Amino acid sequence: MAKFEEVNKKTIPKHVAIIMDGNGRWAKQKGRLRIFGHKGGVKAVQSTIEGAAKVGVKYVTLYAFSTENWNRPKFEVNALMDLLVDTIKKEVKTLNKNKIRLQAIGDLDSLPKRAQEKLQSAIDETASNDHMTLVLALSYSAKWEMINAVKSIASKLKEGSISDHEINEELIDNSLSTAGIPNPELMIRTSGEHRISNFLLWQLAYAELYFTPKLWPDFRDEDFYDALISFQNRERRFGKTSEQLTEKNN
Ligand code: IPE
Ligand code: IPE
Ligand code: MG
Repeated sequence: MAKFEEVNKKTIPKHVAIIMDGNGRWAKQKGRLRIFGHKGGVKAVQSTIEGAAKVGVKYVTLYAFSTENWNRPKFEVNALMDLLVDTIKKEVKTLNKNKIRLQAIGDLDSLPKRAQEKLQSAIDETASNDHMTLVLALSYSAKWEMINAVKSIASKLKEGSISDHEINEELIDNSLSTAGIPNPELMIRTSGEHRISNFLLWQLAYAELYFTPKLWPDFRDEDFYDALISFQNRERRFGKTSEQLTEKNN
């Protein structure tokens, strides 16, 4: 509870993106199979989402499965897909109770049919919720997303619906799978790894990065609040000088 009070409710980031990492190592430490770690990660998702909604974050994006994760052993990929289906099925009620809308980004067509169906029905059933948006990045990678954006812009150019001087930041924003979603101001990665792993490369251009050694299954709302507090203690200069930020007419 204490941590919640420490967060300044006036400077809450609108969008927080999270790389949920360390499930496998958490399981290994306990002498269990990797999938035990993925199951353990569900509790962390619930606690984090609830905490984010309570403190007033408007968008949370969770990196749940990357394009590169398809290269894991088939057994693990299948178990992850089953867990995804199960969790979505179970969580729709809670999402509705907390007025949380579900969205998904990534190559969703590559997911197994049953996962696509469950995901779509959860998206439809939560579509009118307006307290917070939870974005699941599934079969997602930033390079995949950028290739699609370039293709879509190229075909618009070819058909003549835009001309090359109309290619600007806004057009690129709108050509990505995150169109309409503000850029994350804060990116959290658990498990002590210091890398982006092909996550939201364009959208994170000016995000504050927060790394914690905690493994994802141990992460809770209190840890999320720690990340918010760290974010709130930083000076975001966007290329300007510190003095400019405190002057009136900067
Ligand atoms: C994150 O945990 C979950 C996914 C990538 C699906 P990992 O499975 O990557 O766990 P570690 O990094 O091997 O410990
Ligand atoms: C990134 O974690 C992807 C997700 C959390 C879904 P990984 O564990 O797959 O990333 P690397 O392999 O450490 O870069
Ligand atoms: Mg990992």
